Amino acid sequence: MEWKNELTAQLKIDYPIIQAPMLGITTPEMVAAVSQNGGLGSLPIGGLSPERTRELIRKTKSFTSKPFAVNLFTNGVPEYSHADAEAMQDFLETFARDNQLVFDRLSLDALRFYNYKEQLSVLIEEAITIVSFTFGIPDAESMTALKQQGIILVGTATSVQEAVLVQQAGADAVAAQGIEAGGHRGSFLEEAPLPMVGTFVLVPEIAAHVDIPVIAAGGIKSGRTIRAAFQLGAQAVQIGTAFIASHESMAIPSYKTALPKAQVTDSALTRAFSGRWARGIRNQFMEAVEASGLRIPPYPIQHIITAGLRAKAQQADRKEFTNMWAGQASAGAENRSSADILLQFIAQTEGV
Ligand SMILES: Cc1cc2nc3c(=O)[nH]c(=O)nc-3n(C[C@H](O)[C@H](O)[C@H](O)COP(=O)(O)O)c2cc1C
Repeated sequence: MEWKNELTAQLKIDYPIIQAPMLGITTPEMVAAVSQNGGLGSLPIGGLSPERTRELIRKTKSFTSKPFAVNLFTNGVPEYSHADAEAMQDFLETFARDNQLVFDRLSLDALRFYNYKEQLSVLIEEAITIVSFTFGIPDAESMTALKQQGIILVGTATSVQEAVLVQQAGADAVAAQGIEAGGHRGSFLEEAPLPMVGTFVLVPEIAAHVDIPVIAAGGIKSGRTIRAAFQLGAQAVQIGTAFIASHESMAIPSYKTALPKAQVTDSALTRAFSGRWARGIRNQFMEAVEASGLRIPPYPIQHIITAGLRAKAQQADRKEFTNMWAGQASAGAENRSSADILLQFIAQTEGV
């Protein structure tokens, strides 16, 4: 089968299979394993400090000299109600006590946010060749700065309207993220209702409306689904959930065990963990925050407020109290090496 196309040439990869950036899950080892075997690994650095960004990039480079993508979050920090945030902290304090968890209350005035613009100089200094972004589009000045370095830019869209904006901003490719996808929605048109379009509908629609290559994301887990994405007009696939249980993943043991057993109906979209819509396996934390009736502060406020509690739950391997991001197609996700997972996708696709 012919794997090469316009996008593989641009990205300088052998197979148009992209390991999705997954903040909190993806390690430099995972990225390198995929890139080393001819796919494209993606290193998530959304919201991290410039120092941590550089450290992760250097670590990835120490494992591979092949191209890999670096993934940015382009959100700003919205105005938010301090009263809502304090009410949420009150709730979490009680919730933590009732469940033998630790919740450290934060002083809202001291919250520190890192913006993607603080990371750009690191990406340029480290000679990164591919940058993907989600939650919006970098501003024109940033797009120009990255393009001047010859960096290939990949945006994220969950609707045709978003994909057209990504193309207009000068991106070289667009990831069409269907509603099946695990993790955060990349949606960024605040005034529009949250797009809830499945990959099967979204990919051909976007492919019909943009000239840049389309990458299908959401629900892809096998040779058959990879073939289907190509048939729908995608030039590459971006796969996240199938790598969560891998050896190189940071997922805690109980999450890695729960993931392959999850039914297609076990995940849900929630704002409970971060304030942004994201898909994860339902658990006690998600249900309790939603049942509280409280107004959930917007991203990244809720994300930061809940971060400490989630970290402590992870240390104790208590999956009911931390986010278990997962797409609808999580059943059968395997605890194997990331290289094996990629190589199996390639073999399966060739065998279809
Ligand atoms: C655990 C997890 C974390 C994610 N984190 C990011 C991220 O940091 N940046 C990003 O662009 N997308 C992120 N995503 C979304 C993926 O890029 C991709 O759209 C999705 O995984 C594709 O659907 P699938 O999970 O069904 O394969 C994440 C997805 C998961 C499952």
